Amino acid sequence: MSERVEIFEVGPRDGLQNEARDIPVADKIALVDCLSRAGFSRIEMASFVSPERVPQMAGSGEVLGGITRADGIRYAALVPNMRGYEDALAAKVDEIAVFASASEGFSKANINASIDESIARFEPILEAARHIDLPVRGYVSCVADCPYDGPTPPEKVAEVADRLFGLGCYEISLGDTLGQGKPDSIARMLLAVREVVPVTRLAGHYHDTGGHALDNIDASLSLGVRVFDAAAGGLGGCPFAPGAAGNVATEAVAAHLERLGYETGLDADVLAEAADTARAMRAG
Ligand code: HMG
Ligand code: MG
Repeated sequence: MSERVEIFEVGPRDGLQNEARDIPVADKIALVDCLSRAGFSRIEMASFVSPERVPQMAGSGEVLGGITRADGIRYAALVPNMRGYEDALAAKVDEIAVFASASEGFSKANINASIDESIARFEPILEAARHIDLPVRGYVSCVADCPYDGPTPPEKVAEVADRLFGLGCYEISLGDTLGQGKPDSIARMLLAVREVVPVTRLAGHYHDTGGHALDNIDASLSLGVRVFDAAAGGLGGCPFAPGAAGNVATEAVAAHLERLGYETGLDADVLAEAADTARAMRAG
């Protein structure tokens, strides 16, 4: 049997958060419901953040309330603080993600906190989640470089990953937010992070701005990473990382992995349908 690689679908969150057009809640629900037929175990579909900062995610509670939940899928949401945690619980998420940065400049621009301050905000969230057995994922952004601070030292990524893992995050997703990382810089970063967090608890979250995401996935596969984040239709970006374009497209990653002989458990026809649905939302 071929080896399994998991794609963590982030399109309804990372794919849509940067779209300027006001996307109706019903359209977001339709995208999630389509993705729920594709075979994913985890779909990140919401953010409980300031609606002033990320207007596109303002209807997250309604989206969660409107989807048809499929058995075996954990529906996830980003949570920056206790307020977001409580809103996410009220919306009945199955898991949450806290998000930190390996660079101070992006941390400040994204969540208005230093790295230390952000970790201090996450502590009570992890503590509360532990009491109710709610899985918490941890993101580290700017793992290759930062739009404000330049190249990120691999040791800094390892330090932040280690802190999030130490707090109790079950998996650390490593974000090449700007999508300018290349296989050598991604490999150097992974070699450092692997020293402190088991590689089986790492995920690659590679934006495809520079067109290197599939090569970065190959480099990560060779170092043992078996989980990759991707967004249907290749939508996405971060409002606080100027120039960061789309996430790597789910359908491209799935096809690539299958070509390499890995099993993803995903249905290519449904992925194509989801990609069309996502792109139509962008086109308006
Ligand atoms: P703050 O700027 O420090 O200010 O917020 P605050 O805590 O004083 O709150 C400011 C206002 O936001 C207040 O409202 C709060 O009530 C409200 P006002 O009194 O002005 O009317 N507020 C909230 N509202 C709803 N839900 C909440 C919440 N918290 C406060 N949870 C904060 C800090 C983090 C909230 C803010 O800066 C924020 O929301 N930032 C958005 C961050 C974000 O969503 N970024 C994009 C996702 S990260 C990403 O894309 C990277 C990733 O994909 C990985 C990668 O690619 O690298 C994950
Ligand atoms: Mg991202």
